Order: sequence, then C-alpha cells, then structure tokens
Amino acid sequence: MKNSIGTSVILTLAGESHGAMLCAILDGMAPGIPVDEAFIASQLSLRRPGGPADTARREQDRFSIVSGVAGGVTTGAPITILIPNEDVRSADYEAMASIPRPSHADYAAHVKYGGFEDPRGGGHFSGRITACIVAAGAIALSALERKGITVGTHILECAGVRDLPFSDIDPSAQIEKVKRMDFPVISDVREAMEAKILAAKAEQDSVGGIIQTAVCGFPAGVGEPWFGSVEGVLSNALFSIGGIKGVEFGAGFSLAGMRGSEANDAFCICDGHVATKTNRSGGINGGISNGMPLIFNAVVKPTPSIGKVQDSVDLSSGRSAELSIKGRHDPAIVRRVSIVVSSLVAVVLCDVLALRFGTDYLK
Ligand SMILES: Cc1cc2nc3c(=O)[nH]c(=O)nc-3n(C[C@H](O)[C@H](O)[C@H](O)COP(=O)(O)O)c2cc1C
Repeated sequence: MKNSIGTSVILTLAGESHGAMLCAILDGMAPGIPVDEAFIASQLSLRRPGGPADTARREQDRFSIVSGVAGGVTTGAPITILIPNEDVRSADYEAMASIPRPSHADYAAHVKYGGFEDPRGGGHFSGRITACIVAAGAIALSALERKGITVGTHILECAGVRDLPFSDIDPSAQIEKVKRMDFPVISDVREAMEAKILAAKAEQDSVGGIIQTAVCGFPAGVGEPWFGSVEGVLSNALFSIGGIKGVEFGAGFSLAGMRGSEANDAFCICDGHVATKTNRSGGINGGISNGMPLIFNAVVKPTPSIGKVQDSVDLSSGRSAELSIKGRHDPAIVRRVSIVVSSLVAVVLCDVLALRFGTDYLK
C-alpha cells in the first residue's frame, strides 16, 4: 500500500473504518507554525456527517496531537494526530462479508490482499479515513493563510442542480464565503440540492456531482515541468480520494471545443504585475503556476453503497448473488468531500512550495 503523499511535506495515513483509531502523520512542516486545536476541530466538524442527507454514523472526532507540536506551535518533528473510532457497528457488514459491493473497493481489495483486508465498514478504503486528511490539512491551511494563500471548495453541481462557478480572475471573496460553510455553495442552491439527495435516498439510491476548488494568492513559478507538474501532483492527490473519478483544470474539457483565440489567456499588466485577462488555463502553464488563481473541478461519483437491490457475486460460493446494502451510508458525498479536497490540496501545495522555496518558507 502507498499511504504517504508528498516529497518534502509528507502526509501518511493509517487506520480502518472500524479499527480502534485513525492516525495521520504530517512530516516536513517548518518549525514555529502555530497549531490551533479549535480550528482543527472546526474543520473536522465540516466533514462530519450530521444532516438527513448524510450517513447516520455519528463520530465525535475527538482527536489528540501526540507529537510534533509543543506550546501551540510545530517543533519541526513529525506531527502525529490520533482520532479514535467511537460509533462502530460492524454487524452491518457481516451479512455481506463475501459479497462485494458494486463499484466499491471491496472486490479489488479482496483480490489484491487475498482476503486478509479488513472488510468492516470498508476497512482502510472507507471515507472515514479522510478525517485524517482534514485534521492534518487544517495545519497546512493555516500555514498557507499566513502566506496569503487561501483555498476553498464548493459544490458546483449535485444531481443536476448547478451552483455559480468561482470567478477565475478573483475568487477571493467567494473562497472566504464557502470555506467555513457546512454545505458549501456560492448561490442559493442548497435547498434544491438537498431535495435531490433526499429524493434519491428515499428511493434507496445515491447521487454524485462536481466540486470546484479555487486557490488565491499562490505565487507564480512553482511546480516542475514534466513529471512534477502542479496539475500532476494535484491530480494524484484528488484521485487518491475514494469516489473522485474525473479532474479538470481551468476550462478543462470545454477547451476541446474552443479555438485558440477563445482558449488563450491574453496577458496584461494589472496593478503593476503581469496577469492574464482570462484564466482558462486554471493558473498553470507548463506544469508551473502562472500567478493567476488555481481553479480545478473534480467529479464525485454517486455513493456506491445503496439499499436498492444490485447484482453481485458471492465469493465464497462462486455464484451470482443479489445485494441490498443495509449499513449507514451517505446518499451523496459531495458535501463531505469538499473539505477533504481543500485539506489535501493544502498539504500538496505546502509540499510544492517547500520544494521550490525550502521548508522554512512556511515558517
Ligand atoms: C467523505 C467520504 C465519505 C464516503 N462515504 C461513503 C459511504 O457512506 N458509502 C460508500 O459506499 N462509499 C462512501 N465513500 C466512497 C468510497 O470511499 C468510494 O466510492 C470507494 O473508495 C471507491 O471509489 P473509487 O472507485 O473512486 O476508487 C465515501 C468517500 C468519501 C471521501
């Protein structure tokens, strides 16, 4: 398994959905960065299920930081965060232990780990593990904010209901608006989105959507051409999150239908700096940041675990089997995954900044 991401700033995840606890280790952060436990707790609350459109699992996420922080600041040593699992109901999974859930990781993991994988609650493949990302990401987000770099993610689309997109020239006010919202949307579409999610839930089904992330204040000239491109490292991070099946930067797939004269971002001098009049490139050219906001979208598939009867196979008998999933699941994960994406993006951006300017840049 590869449970670590990053080269200079490295995040490592451990734990299972129904194990004793989760663990995040964040290594390579500069010494002297303030760590605000109340901010970490409030970030975790944005990921935590709570409403009727979320799983019924209720975890308190009572985390403890057991290394790397002293007197409220980072020491430069690895930061270890532990989050116990408290609301565990493994019996829900016993009936389907040998019947893999369609489009979840069950079957692929079973083949790779030969049946030794922990099947309870999706084991190490569960969305529960993303609590680690949010806890560690809160430290990275705070470090970036001190450098004037802000990150925000909102639900651009859910079950066909569309929010306004981020401004690709200056999304700073929109980032401020959505970054602390438990259902992050720019316009007044929460009710319509929730109605679609609840309608799917009533039919024992699920829905997906698109989430959009913007990063403001990110300096030009960061990232490596070819295999260390900012698009590449961000995509690697985004595709590590279960349920994300597509990523596009800037105008993304719609660039395919444009002419060069429409797609190109013309340069201008804005407030004495080189800028571009449009930002269809999403702030990245040649794998390197160009000083415009980083803008990218991620497609989140419908939650695989649904109550509707589905065709599967019983791996113990080698026969076809029908499956109706009974456990506690999110009928849509777009809301909860938004803060996970901002958090992991923050860790990755700390890494590429540390590679470009040195670890102490974040001090
Ligand atoms: C925050 C979060 C919560 C999730 N909750 C559920 C869930 O309740 N039920 C479920 O089947 N999948 C859930 N998932 C999605 C699975 O993890 C994901 O579908 C699975 O790993 C396979 O995804 P893949 O095909 O993209 O690899 C969740 C994912 C995240 C990030």
